[in-house]
Amino acid sequence: MRLGSVSRFRRAAGRAIVIALVVPGAFTLAGAAPQVPAGSSVPVTITVDASRTGATIRRHLFGQFAEHLGKGIYEGVWVGPESPIPNTRGIRNDVVAALKALKVPNVRWPGGCFADEYHWRKGIGPLNARPATLNPNWGGVIEPNTFGTHEFLDFAAQIGAEAFLSVNVGSGTPAEAADWLEYLTTAEPTALAKERAANGRAAPFKIAILGIGNENWDCGGNMSAEYYLSQLRIYSRFVRNFNPAQQKSDRMLKIAVGPGGGDPRFAEWTETIMKSWKGRHWSWDHMDGLSLHNYTVVRFPAAYKSVGFGEQEYAEILQATLLMDGLIKQHSAIMDKYDPKKEVALVVDEWGSWYAQLPGTTPGFLAQQNSVRDALIAALNINIFARHADRVRMANIAQMINVLQAMILTDGPKMVRTPTYHVFRMYVPFQDATFVPVTFDAGRYTHGGISLPRVDAIAAKDASGTLWLALTNVDPHRPAEIATTLAGITPRSAAGETLTAGAIDSVNTFDAPDTVAPKPVEVKLDGRRLSLTLAPKSVTVIGVRP
Ligand code: AHR
Repeated sequence: MRLGSVSRFRRAAGRAIVIALVVPGAFTLAGAAPQVPAGSSVPVTITVDASRTGATIRRHLFGQFAEHLGKGIYEGVWVGPESPIPNTRGIRNDVVAALKALKVPNVRWPGGCFADEYHWRKGIGPLNARPATLNPNWGGVIEPNTFGTHEFLDFAAQIGAEAFLSVNVGSGTPAEAADWLEYLTTAEPTALAKERAANGRAAPFKIAILGIGNENWDCGGNMSAEYYLSQLRIYSRFVRNFNPAQQKSDRMLKIAVGPGGGDPRFAEWTETIMKSWKGRHWSWDHMDGLSLHNYTVVRFPAAYKSVGFGEQEYAEILQATLLMDGLIKQHSAIMDKYDPKKEVALVVDEWGSWYAQLPGTTPGFLAQQNSVRDALIAALNINIFARHADRVRMANIAQMINVLQAMILTDGPKMVRTPTYHVFRMYVPFQDATFVPVTFDAGRYTHGGISLPRVDAIAAKDASGTLWLALTNVDPHRPAEIATTLAGITPRSAAGETLTAGAIDSVNTFDAPDTVAPKPVEVKLDGRRLSLTLAPKSVTVIGVRP
């Protein structure tokens, strides 16, 4: 039983992270940065030329992940049609309304590790006839199967998201997965299509993204790269969209399992898959993306607290989150060797903070709070993805509700939006906007032997010509005085909002849901010069309208 336990790769990944802290050049050690008196503000000059543009920041970078794990699905999304909690066909109305504001582009389901033990037939048909099974990965609890294929696709439709389905490679068969796809997608009157109609859905569903397994080097079956590759070839051939009309308009994207964390052995995994993709055989159907999983954790098993932590843990966790950049660079470089045109996307379909479970919660449920630090983690990672937008074209934060770095926490009928939720809402204008390079000297924030870039910034231009700036200040003590010189745009107005709170571990609770909530920020515009103050430990998004 997994019970949220730590795999051999995860343990190694944790070690790799610790080692990376002292790699020369990766980070400057404390003392290298100029010291600024505590509390005094730090000037930062930023230059943005809106006429210079880069890759599109795909909306799919803002994807979500919802696994049958803890209270992620049951209670978080599904309460059942008979529940006193207001719902539509069993799906919570409050959660749907909150998620709609995020314009969630896609939801990955049903796992995670759960996916490689999921048998879809147990989750269709009349609710009261579905079998109770076990969820051995996550607490060994009963899986009632009342949230299955139709319920997931109803949920995705209610929030306006596309479906990202992970099929069972570890303990399933290609035939089982192919049947699932035929059941979902065919418009022909096959036995499976008739069964779908009998279960309430005559028209075919659309599956936008297909994950072929999950972490098959670990919980997905302890496979070697070569063994997984042989499975990938078979699954990618037989598990397809059986609806020619859908294929014409919008082909289903197929995502292969890739590396997880910083273990150096994963370089070989990426090599193995990409080498095979380059020399692809005619029957080796397409692979559109290679997955990368990387959690923000100092070491596994996750022991750092999600609330009630001090500045040392704050700094260490932020340092760990910035390792995402190196990991993307490492695997992108391997991909570039075999795919210089960047046809295959790097898909970071599990990322986010992973802390010790909250005391008193069920083991294996991965329940944690979400603080100002998590808001910074969310913004810093999105910024990293945006800078690699030519290769990183999809990402899914783990996980949507009540699990790990969640958007939303629920307790019975109560619901609260987390600081991470607010960051995703503030970044909505970046969805499908065009990356605009920025230059700035970030300065350094130093604490207890750790030195991090104090300020981070990205910019993007949307379809209406509005220039968007996202700015973070990780320094928990000092504001940053931002002076921005804009070129390539004649700004008429600028406005934005900022997210911060009193303490580095400030959180939203059911009793105090708006402790960490965005507020308008004062922005001064003088010709092409834009200035504002970034509060300590804050995330700010500004729109500059032409
Ligand atoms: O998100 C929790 C788990 O982390 C997922 O099930 C698994 O893929 C990863 O190890």
